[in-house]
Amino acid sequence: MLHELVGYFGTAAQRYGNAWKKHRKAYRQYFDPASVVKYRYAQTVAAQELLRRLLDSPREYRTHVRYVASNLAMGIAYGMELEANFDRYVALSEVVVQIFLKVSRPGAFMVEYIPILKYIPSWFPGAGFKNFALEGRELVRQARDVPFDDVKRQLTMGNMQESFVSNSLLDLANTDEKEDIQVVKDIAGSIFAAGSDTTTAAIEWFLLAMVMFPEVQKKAQDELTKVIGQERLPEFEDRPELPYIDALVKEVLRFFVITPLALPHYTTEADVYEGYYIPAKTTIMGNSWALMHDPEEYPEPFKFNPERFLPNKEGKVPRDPFLGGAFGFGRRICSGRHLADASIFIMFASILTVFNISKARNEKGNEIDVTYATTAVPKFFHHPPFFPFEVNPRSEAALRVIHDTMP
Ligand code: HEM
Repeated sequence: MLHELVGYFGTAAQRYGNAWKKHRKAYRQYFDPASVVKYRYAQTVAAQELLRRLLDSPREYRTHVRYVASNLAMGIAYGMELEANFDRYVALSEVVVQIFLKVSRPGAFMVEYIPILKYIPSWFPGAGFKNFALEGRELVRQARDVPFDDVKRQLTMGNMQESFVSNSLLDLANTDEKEDIQVVKDIAGSIFAAGSDTTTAAIEWFLLAMVMFPEVQKKAQDELTKVIGQERLPEFEDRPELPYIDALVKEVLRFFVITPLALPHYTTEADVYEGYYIPAKTTIMGNSWALMHDPEEYPEPFKFNPERFLPNKEGKVPRDPFLGGAFGFGRRICSGRHLADASIFIMFASILTVFNISKARNEKGNEIDVTYATTAVPKFFHHPPFFPFEVNPRSEAALRVIHDTMP
């Protein structure tokens, strides 16, 4: 449904095969740990924008976080020069995310299980999925083609910004390989779907954690004060000196699990796993939630404790959520995980350098409690519901630092 009928082109919807391998190869080339360094400027600008917005209207935090994560995804894919048309691109991409979420839910469309249904005409009773696919197909096409064509035009005018599209098109300048250009187009068109909602959720969960666990916030801030002080914002180069912040990034991803069931996988051959026979053509949901709360790997799994990721006396650390669970599994593991890691690191570290985050108070001056249900949520992207909190600059110096980020 997603790939053939709706025409969705993203990596996650590609079957194992040549096209998918080309996608993964391009991701390795442009989003491996060494290459994501190129996007640091965009990530830093996004973090600064979030600080200003949070200072200005903290209650609107959901809008701010979503705005900043969407801008960042679009900026990384296409460059920041597209501002005039930005809202249109974001709106189109958001429609694609909704289509993706609707179609990817296992069991949502019968044609997934009885492929011959795809041949029935759209006027046939019960063939509403064909009209849905037809409308979706056009929107999906626009979301992919319109921003890409704009960047290409800018490139020919020599008017381009650092982005995945500009970098890859420059690398492909001397080839006539249509297939390679199509891969660039398809990947760029799906960075928003893959990276915007997920990064938004990571920041929202982090804010909730800071409200719920003030002792963790204090430790993180003590580390930042020691290493950075309060006269400037953190930079990526500071990261090796910030092991607690690093551990905090991991603990947010482990504890809340943004993608509790990752994405559905599909067996191409029959297999036997630990005594279970799995037939070919079976949809498999990997239970990331359970892996991330496995008490053998993570003792007291429902305790929010970044320290678990700092080496113990024997120098041991538990399994890194980046390697299996928080970003999916095996050869389909998230191809944007290094980029996501860098984005959320700079957001978390910047917020904690300048702000204290605390419980909001009601009219009587009493703190409003924030709770979190530690149950699995069978959703693709797991966001916290709205929660109130207060954001206050940590000092006069911190306030100055935020004002100094004004472009
Ligand atoms: C906190 C942020 C993110 C989380 C939690 C996340 C999580 C995931 C998960 C669970 C999967 C499914 C893996 C599987 O099938 O086993 C996935 C796939 C994918 N992600 Fe991410 N992701 C994030 C950010 C990003 C970003 C920023 C990008 C792009 C730049 C991205 C690109 C992709 C792609 C292309 C796939 C499909 C891989 C394939 O099927 O081969 N992700 N992600």
